[in-house]
Amino acid sequence: MRLSSRSLILSVALGVAVVITAPNISEGESSHAKALREHYELQEGKRLYEQYCRFCHGDQGKGNAYDVTPPPADLTSPAVQQKSDAELTQTIHEGERGTAMGSWKWELSEKDKQNILLYIRRLAR
Ligand code: HEC
Repeated sequence: MRLSSRSLILSVALGVAVVITAPNISEGESSHAKALREHYELQEGKRLYEQYCRFCHGDQGKGNAYDVTPPPADLTSPAVQQKSDAELTQTIHEGERGTAMGSWKWELSEKDKQNILLYIRRLAR
């Protein structure tokens, strides 16, 4: 069977098209995978926040859910948001002595704390 010149040209053209677009496809896949992972981490942070933190800090992180002195921090406030990830993670890990903010070091893994922090950052937007 003889390949017609038309189908030969077509298959060469297709081959070139695949070579040209291939890097874009793989880039597309990796940014898609990244978006999926970030979505998952945010959802995981939300789930953990709702399980452990919402009780005091409230649905929106405003700190008005539980009546104690001192009151739960408004996690969306500039005063909290301008603190570094390290500082906030440290507080979540250790708690704040003499306040209702307890230590979560036994309940939450490092990854859990990162995911919750991601969610707290998102609440402030
Ligand atoms: C029993 C109530 C309660 C629960 C539950 C609670 N918190 Fe708190 N949280 C507080 C209080 C009260 C403060 C304010 C302490 C202070 O004034 O120093 C606070 C402060 C904080 C701060 C410090 C803000 C700053 O100004 O640096 C962070 C961060 C925080 N909480 C995160 C969390 C996270 C994350 C969870 C869930 C894992 C959580 N809290 C659960 C009561 C609570």
